[in-house]
Amino acid sequence: MRAVTIPSPGEPDALVLAEVDDPVPGPGEVLVDVVATAVNRADVLQRRGFYDPPPGASRYPGLECAGRVAALGEGVAGWAVGDEVCALLAGGGYAEKVAVPSGQLLPVPAGLSLLEAAALPEVVCTVWSNVFGLAALEPGEVLLVHGGTSGIGTCALQLASRHGARVFCTVGSAAKAERAVALGAERAVLYREEDFVDVVRTATDGKGADVVLDNMGAQYLERNVKVLATGGRLVVIGLQGGTRAELDLGRLLAKRASVHATALRARPTAEKAAIVESVLAGVWPAVEAGEVRPVVDRVLPLEQVAEAHRVVEASEHVGKVVLQVRDA
Ligand SMILES: NC(=O)c1ccc[n+]([C@@H]2O[C@H](COP(=O)([O-])OP(=O)(O)OC[C@H]3O[C@@H](n4cnc5c(N)ncnc54)[C@H](OP(=O)(O)O)[C@@H]3O)[C@@H](O)[C@H]2O)c1
Repeated sequence: MRAVTIPSPGEPDALVLAEVDDPVPGPGEVLVDVVATAVNRADVLQRRGFYDPPPGASRYPGLECAGRVAALGEGVAGWAVGDEVCALLAGGGYAEKVAVPSGQLLPVPAGLSLLEAAALPEVVCTVWSNVFGLAALEPGEVLLVHGGTSGIGTCALQLASRHGARVFCTVGSAAKAERAVALGAERAVLYREEDFVDVVRTATDGKGADVVLDNMGAQYLERNVKVLATGGRLVVIGLQGGTRAELDLGRLLAKRASVHATALRARPTAEKAAIVESVLAGVWPAVEAGEVRPVVDRVLPLEQVAEAHRVVEASEHVGKVVLQVRDA
């Protein structure tokens, strides 16, 4: 099969489409003929050599895909050859075939194409497990999402506003602010010009955010703790602004607030399967009802994977950049 390889880490042209061995599904795994995959920020880090796949994962990038079941490994029940599926992957989506634990498969939601479905698993599983699982966002609470038009952000804005939360986000431009508001944000803060602490506090009569979903890490830690409401939960899922910063425990203690830092990719298969099951029950009906939609910025053929990475790294996109691997 063909897969995107990274012979030596670097700029987007480090991604090389090559002929490689087909994966073989092990016990409990399903082999998927990949129709589409999507770019995640983590793939950019992997390409640059900063994010190795966890042990046992495919060495090719790609954390999600959609396609058709091609073969079943030993002991797999509930799926049949030819089923249209999408999947949460630990790697290997940028390829014509991928072997995936059967618990990480989801049916393609009714009404969605395979190209659209490829844009869902990673962001939905991340947002669902963190905002609604770990941070237990309640209706009426205030959520602040950094990077409101990222793949993650476009999903978080839709799910949280539909849940009845008041949703704020940060964005880098006025055009992105408009898109964020259309996706459910009450207010999008221009992070280059405005202070999100001031904006969120003012809009909430001084209360602040009950939950913050953060992609910036160190750079925003102090202000994220400042913006938290009493009992607030800061969930750090990205480290785009660095890994080390000072944490004012006094401020945290006074607010009875908490800070979590978490990543989905290296979680054990059983935990991922539990998240996928919960997504199927909690999110898929809303997707099928058209209340939550994948936001696809553009679809590029796998041959243009370097251009897809360039777009994502330059943050020219809103939502997801999808890579088409074969004809749908
Ligand atoms: N821990 C996990 O399990 C997990 C899983 C998936 C993703 N993630 C993380 O979640 C984040 C989003 O992932 P993605 O793939 O959706 O990324 P993405 O689409 O590439 O988006 C990156 C976002 O970062 C924003 N950004 C850049 N500088 C910023 C700043 N100073 N303040 C606020 N936002 C800023 C960009 O905003 P503008 O475009 O408006 O400038 C853009 O929305 C990444 O950090 C990724 O590593 C974590």
